[in-house]
Formats: sequence, structure tokens, C-alpha cells
Amino acid sequence: MKGYNVAIVGATGLVGQEFIKTLEQRNFPMASIQLFASDRSAGKKLFVNHQEIEVKETTPDSFQRVDIALFSAGAEVSHFFSPIAARVKALVIDNSSAFRMEPTVPLVVPEVNPEDTKWHKGIIANPNCSTIQAVVALYPLHKVNPIKRFTVATYQAVSGTGAAAVEELTTQSKLALGGQDIVPHVYPHQIAFNVLPEIDVFLDNGYTKEEQKMVEETRKIMHSKDMAISATCVRVPVYIGHSEAIQIEFTEPMLPEEAKRILARAPGVKVVDDPSVSLYPQPWMAAGTDKVFVGRIRKDISHPNGLVMWVVADNLRKGAALNAIQIAEEVIKRGWL
Ligand SMILES: NC(=O)c1ccc[n+]([C@@H]2O[C@H](COP(=O)([O-])OP(=O)(O)OC[C@H]3O[C@@H](n4cnc5c(N)ncnc54)[C@H](OP(=O)(O)O)[C@@H]3O)[C@@H](O)[C@H]2O)c1
Repeated sequence: MKGYNVAIVGATGLVGQEFIKTLEQRNFPMASIQLFASDRSAGKKLFVNHQEIEVKETTPDSFQRVDIALFSAGAEVSHFFSPIAARVKALVIDNSSAFRMEPTVPLVVPEVNPEDTKWHKGIIANPNCSTIQAVVALYPLHKVNPIKRFTVATYQAVSGTGAAAVEELTTQSKLALGGQDIVPHVYPHQIAFNVLPEIDVFLDNGYTKEEQKMVEETRKIMHSKDMAISATCVRVPVYIGHSEAIQIEFTEPMLPEEAKRILARAPGVKVVDDPSVSLYPQPWMAAGTDKVFVGRIRKDISHPNGLVMWVVADNLRKGAALNAIQIAEEVIKRGWL
């Protein structure tokens, strides 16, 4: 198989590290790999497939001989460098929120809308982590019995905010256990032994931007512009793995057994559901794995067409790096690079 010249922008970050691991584990066809970050990390050495690679500062000249550029360095960096990379014919797969809602940029979860990769014009957006795991679990059900409305409450790990937040949880936990004062830096309040119903900025309608992203991105990926959606996104003191409680209203009633049967065959999903032995998905069990885990599947006693479920996935893998690499694999497979 042909090998591709791959670049990672944000290679030193949490998602960047997961990109490297996932490329190695999936034996991605690489002719070369270049690692980019900010000037702070230039000169640092990282290993890819046992080979030591020097991290370089990202500049407008970084993409000259690149076929696939995996971006994960925040929206500002993507806004500036992605169009430059796309102009010299690199396919950009962007993890930030910079282009997700641009009408000319596909927003793709390969288990749901792989064919949307076809109309890319050099940039494909990777959705928000919470959106990805929700649509992987919802779409197989929606295909059988269209979803009219769903509400979701998320329990999101601190790794979703990046390396600084992971460090903050550790530091604050030690301080709290030692009975010492805590001064928050990354979040507006203490995150150790606490939960914060605030992810991203607040909007005029009272929702946060993270909650609004879940609504808009889900509609775009599932091609369902009228689906009614409401989200409450909450940060919890967990390192890796986002959890979601989802209440779904279908067009027709759906029995939990039918939902389990559909989800058991769905791509990327693993049903873990046996309340009799306290078996249900948990973030620690999802961390480091590729699946979207679904459990606690039950009838919603508040609505005749309702179903409730609990969905957990590794936010750094399926929520970020893995989904982006699956997009690249999809484009290669279909010959649309
Ligand atoms: N974490 C998740 O679960 C998740 C999920 C989906 C999407 N994302 C998105 O992925 C992006 C990165 O997340 P992360 O968790 O990996 O964050 P992170 O751990 O804080 O890492 C940030 C990365 O961006 C690089 N960077 C910062 N400023 C730069 C610049 N001016 N030029 C080039 N590189 C620069 C950093 O390089 P230095 O080492 O040089 O500072 C580092 O490699 C964000 O856009 C985030 O929204 C994250």
C-alpha cells in the first residue's frame, strides 16, 4: 500500500500524543511523519514507531511535502495554518472548533456520515468529543426509528481541556487531601472533589458554547436539521472518559431489547448492560480503548416513545485522535485524497 506523508500539528499535546499512539497501533500507511507544535516545544524529541523525531515550530512553510495534516492545537492555530496547508494540497483533518459549522467543510464521524468526506475542499472537521460518542450510539437507532428529540447530560473528563487541566486535577487533589487552600487556574472553580456545569463560554440563551456545539454538530452530522436537542455539559474530576445520560424520544415506541439488538450490531459500539451484576459502562473501563460503550438501556417511564441510555467513550481516542485517523482512512479507502 502507498505510504502518505503525515504531519501532526499540536504533537506535544494530549490529543497529539494520542495521534502518535493511534497511528502506530493502526499501522497507518506512513511514508514520513513530521511533528509540529509551538516554538515552546521546538527541538523536543518524540518517538514514532521507535524512531526519534524532532518537534518543529509550526510555520507557513511546514506543509510543503505533506499529504495529510492532523491538527490539534486549538482553533486559533487551525484558523491560521489550515488554509495554508490546504492550499499546498495537504488534506487537513482538524480537531478544533474552527471550521466545524462552515457549510463548505464536512464534519464527519465515519460510523455515521462517511460519504460526506467526498465533498471536502482540503479541510475536514472532526466533531467535538461529546458529540462524537453521542452520534455513534444514536445513529443506528435513528436509522430504524427516527429520533424526534433527545436531551443529554454529560460528565466530561478533565483531559478534554488539555494537559494543563490534567495537571490541575492532580495538584488540587493533593492539596485538598492535605487540607490546604486551592487556587483554581484552568477552571473558574476547584475541580478536585467537585463538578462544574460550565464548559466553554456562556451564550445569551443561557446555554454554554459546548452545549450549543452538541446541538448544531449533531444535526449537521446526522443530516437532521429539525431534530430537537438540549444538552447540559458538566466537567467532572475524572482524568479520561466522557459519560453521557441520554433521554431519547423516537417517532414510534422502541423496546429496550430492540435497542440492544440494534446497538450490538452497530459499528464502533459495545453494549455493556447487565444491571443484575452492576455491569454498565464506566470511564475507567473506556480509557485507552476505541469503542463507544452503551448501557443502562431502559424504557423512559415519562414518555411512551422514550428510551434512556448511558454512553461512555475515551474522549482522547474516539472523541479526538481515533475519529480523525478513521476519517483519513475513509478518504484513502474511497480514493478521495
Ligand atoms: N482533549 C480532548 O478530549 C479533545 C477532544 C476533541 C478536540 N480537542 C481539541 O484538540 C485541541 C488540542 O487539545 P489538547 O487536549 O491536545 O490540548 P493540549 O494538551 O493543551 O495541547 C495543545 C497543543 O497545541 C500546541 N500549540 C499551542 N499553541 C500553538 C501554536 N501557536 N502553534 C502550534 N502549536 C501550538 C501545543 O504545543 P506546545 O507544546 O508547544 O505548547 C500542544 O501540542 C484543542 O483544539 C481541543 O479543543 C481536544
